[in-house]
Amino acid sequence: MMTNDGANNVGTNVDQEFARLEAEARAGAASLASAEAIEEFRLEWLGRRQGRLKQVSEAWLKSADEKRALGQRFNALKTLVEGLLEAAATRGQETRWSDEALRGERLDVTLPGTQRLTGAEHPITRTMNELIAIFAGLGYSVGVGPEVETDYYNFESMNFPPGHPARDTQDTLVIAGQERRSLRDRLLLRTHTSPVQMRTMERVGPPVRIVIPGKVHRNDAADATHSPVFHQVEGLCVDANITFSDLKGTLDHAMKALFGSSVKTRFFPSFFPFTEPSADVQISCIFCVGKGCRRCKQSGWIELLGCGMVDPAVFGFAAEKQPGYDARKISGFAFGMGVERIAMMKYGVSEIGQFYSGDMRFLEGFGGGSGLAG
Ligand code: PHE
Repeated sequence: MMTNDGANNVGTNVDQEFARLEAEARAGAASLASAEAIEEFRLEWLGRRQGRLKQVSEAWLKSADEKRALGQRFNALKTLVEGLLEAAATRGQETRWSDEALRGERLDVTLPGTQRLTGAEHPITRTMNELIAIFAGLGYSVGVGPEVETDYYNFESMNFPPGHPARDTQDTLVIAGQERRSLRDRLLLRTHTSPVQMRTMERVGPPVRIVIPGKVHRNDAADATHSPVFHQVEGLCVDANITFSDLKGTLDHAMKALFGSSVKTRFFPSFFPFTEPSADVQISCIFCVGKGCRRCKQSGWIELLGCGMVDPAVFGFAAEKQPGYDARKISGFAFGMGVERIAMMKYGVSEIGQFYSGDMRFLEGFGGGSGLAG
């Protein structure tokens, strides 16, 4: 340890003392392995109040004589400590670099890459988009409406008067606790996309050409081909002189665009309150090409959608907001189809539940799923 007993003493020991201090500084600096340790070392040696160099100067460099005699040695020691500090800091940086370099070497470029799943459209979305694209090509635009609908839009304005037996054909899920509301304002889960026909006509006067994709709900027991939640694509075309042959031509074109140009369509009389006349549309069985098979129940035909000429009563409701819907001046057709049914046919799916299962093995069959990305 340093002595504090004056210049006389120093004179004899000075070489030894400085040599010892230098050796201690070198030894201390050699093991500095972190920024904290370097800072500690700096404080130990260069600290302004307690640092060892401060102590040395206080003990040995008090008088001008002492300074003259020992100043150079002292400065040399200080320079040494500063140099050691700098070297330790540089070493620290180099270590960090070399650590990273090492880590880099551990990267095995021959390992397979990280598998990332690439997304794809769900087959139901894809089918809806295909249908939309077909009708967009005919000049239709796209409309949407709420899934929680009022009795008025879902039924009354679609010409299902209160108590009309046709309401029973749509097993409606109604929202509970609405006894105090008038019937027309009561909320239900829409049973079809047809209410958006009325919502659209209330917004825009004729002419109108619109396709309406959307989710609908019916209290259907789930089986292989039915689900209480499913999707429809609705269509509405209103203009002067729209005829049933426009309807037939439009749907025939759409079915050919969807299933291939060899598909045939045929129209059977049917009933919907909001169209008159109404028809069910069948397409020639795409599985047996009309010969008769299990899928078409040996008939060669598969029923796919409902349609008809817009009932004048529906125009009457629309005319309350948009007088342009005057059944004496304009006419129109509407159609509605189940998306699941079409997707099942197009993609050969036999269980409707598979669409909602979230099972990746099923969904990967539609072009999504695994793929190497990046
Ligand atoms: N809304 C009918 C249904 O859900 C389908 C349909 C739409 C029929 C438009 C005719 C016209 O069954």
